[in-house]
Amino acid sequence: MPTVLFVNACIRGKDSRTLALGERLLAQIREANNKDMAFQIEEIRLSTENLIPLNYERLQRREELLAGGQYQDTMFDYANAVAYADMIVVAAPCWNMSFPAALQIFFEAASVEGITYAREADGTTRGLCRAENMYYVTTNGYGDTRGLGADYVDALRRLYGIRELHVVSAGGLDMEGADVRAILEETAFKRRGI
Ligand SMILES: Cc1cc2nc3c(=O)[nH]c(=O)nc-3n(C[C@H](O)[C@H](O)[C@H](O)COP(=O)(O)O)c2cc1C
Repeated sequence: MPTVLFVNACIRGKDSRTLALGERLLAQIREANNKDMAFQIEEIRLSTENLIPLNYERLQRREELLAGGQYQDTMFDYANAVAYADMIVVAAPCWNMSFPAALQIFFEAASVEGITYAREADGTTRGLCRAENMYYVTTNGYGDTRGLGADYVDALRRLYGIRELHVVSAGGLDMEGADVRAILEETAFKRRGI
């Protein structure tokens, strides 16, 4: 069954406005696709994952596994989830100009030569991921732009060989007097008709 991978980097859980927006988007995707095909949503909730950044020992283990062609090792679970998803939705608030560190650790684990991308003899890369569309859902406190996080995710999207990144961004939620409900509603409304 086709899979939508939902990478949930909304650390504040049920209090997260970004998660609320992400759930609206997933509902819209479900609504738009249900008539054509059934699909499952696989969620990776980063706030409850045991995320370990690469240290030298883990890096060496990873290289050994790759040299031995052991692409199914659990060390590559995130990379395989990204590689085989039919669509990817990432939801993350803006933290310190980009996104929470948990998401960086996820991408570090997911970016694996031989699984999510390949390197050609001339040094260029070729994406190996199945998905054609990736969504980046984000909110920020003070800005009105999509932020550095979206630019970084767009660079990874190219590395992975995914055709398009769609950014869903609601800004200025922590500004004095901001009508958070209205801003979220307007952002979600813009995405209707996916
Ligand atoms: C640790 C931390 C760092 C933040 N950094 C920024 C920032 O750099 N720029 C900004 O506009 N807002 C920043 N914010 C505000 C959040 O982006 C904003 O409140 C966002 O809507 C939170 O999303 P959430 O409700 O999904 O948790 C930060 C908030 C936290 C907790």
